[in-house]
Amino acid sequence: MPDSRSQGLLLIDDQHVQLPHRKGTLGPDVIDVQSFYKQTGMFTFDPGFTSTASCESAITFIDGDKGELLYRGYPIEELAKHSTFLETSYLLLHGELPTPQDYDAFVGSINTHTMVHEKLVKFYDGFHHDAHPMAIMIGVVGALSAFYHQAVDLNDSESRLDACYRLVAKMPTLAAMAYRYSCGWPFNYPQNTLGYAENFLHMLFSQPTQAYALSPTIARALDKILILHADHEQNASTATVRLAASSQANPFGCIAAGIACLWGPAHGGANEAVIRMLTEIGTPANIGKYLARAKDKNDPFRLMGFGHRVYKNYDPRAAVIREDCHNVLKEVGCVGSPLFDIALQLESQALEDDYFIERKLFPNVDFYSGIILKAIGIPVQMFPVLFAVGRTVGWTSHWLEMSNESHKIGRPRQLYIGAKKRHYIDIQKR
Ligand code: SDX
Repeated sequence: MPDSRSQGLLLIDDQHVQLPHRKGTLGPDVIDVQSFYKQTGMFTFDPGFTSTASCESAITFIDGDKGELLYRGYPIEELAKHSTFLETSYLLLHGELPTPQDYDAFVGSINTHTMVHEKLVKFYDGFHHDAHPMAIMIGVVGALSAFYHQAVDLNDSESRLDACYRLVAKMPTLAAMAYRYSCGWPFNYPQNTLGYAENFLHMLFSQPTQAYALSPTIARALDKILILHADHEQNASTATVRLAASSQANPFGCIAAGIACLWGPAHGGANEAVIRMLTEIGTPANIGKYLARAKDKNDPFRLMGFGHRVYKNYDPRAAVIREDCHNVLKEVGCVGSPLFDIALQLESQALEDDYFIERKLFPNVDFYSGIILKAIGIPVQMFPVLFAVGRTVGWTSHWLEMSNESHKIGRPRQLYIGAKKRHYIDIQKR
């Protein structure tokens, strides 16, 4: 790991504070503040982590100004064009693109784990039929820790890797079951002769009366969406997984925590919120009214699918998905989809508006993904679930990276603004 250590010097209230200045391979340097409290008796303060690097990682790099995203150094555009989700998963987990032999062995390993325990299937009956599928996923993925708790030896590298493979393999099965449960349909078992995305579509849509007619275009579009969602540096849900992993918690429980965080509309729940927003806008004539609401500080409405903490340029994933929209909509005969037309015009007007230009607000990965998912026939409530299926390999890669190295438990401090010390008063005297 290239790392030239020099000293950063801070002058705080006439106190010289020397802190290591470290460089990574790419991106901003860091000032290592681990000794800051010991030297100064003060904490650094950064509640939204706008200026804080929480860890070292070799998995994903983002240049927000350039709109660049690299998985283990490979540009996302190249992986989306040339790779598959399982090959990209191997890359994220192992750090290198697989040889043909490695790839075949990896696919074989994943395929041995696509089924779930029949007792786990019974968990679904405990949910009300209209339970949100993300609520179900938090439950059933967390429940995997009850089925594999003994199987995970955190001190054994093969056991750690096996837990990651199990999660990547089982997420589509669990996700498809959540969808079919909401429809009152029987569950489909995975068919390992199919590819990852094809198998997922089969488990989602095949009926006992007829198998799902797999479209290569749709399967490829879904596989590409999973690639684009696979990882994204230290986003909120990945940071959640890392914090849970720092206590050496069960990996299935750590991923369940990541799913819970991803569900929020400010994060992975945005793809569902985008479609609801476009549907509410209803017609291009209403776009101006909604842009005005997005700019109104007194209105909680935000343009869903727009803006990003890191990207201050076009999200490269959004550009890939936007291009695919044309192909998928054509394949499913939805050319001229009203939602896609509204999205295109909304993007065009927002990108010409000073409010969005000044704040460098561009479409993010969630702005167009819902258009494709809806065209494939995925219900809106399942959109964040698709995001979780793709992101599981990123979460497990970060879990593995942490688990392969010794780590302190993550334990932030605070700026206390509460009551000073005071004494109990009997209720009769208050
Ligand atoms: C994902 O981190 C990741 O990598 C996440 C992700 C991943 O792959 O894991 O990329 C996936 O979560 C994408 C983001 C999906 N969320 C949305 O699309 C929801 C809408 N976006 C916003 O909520 C917002 O842009 C965030 C949450 C994404 C980013 O918020 P920040 O970085 O905290 O930015 P901010 O709230 O400080 O906004 C800066 C300014 C503010 O205005 P001022 O106070 O400066 O006047 O921009 C405004 C905000 O009000 N702003 C928006 C806006 N997003 C920011 N105004 C209107 N509409 C928006 N969408």
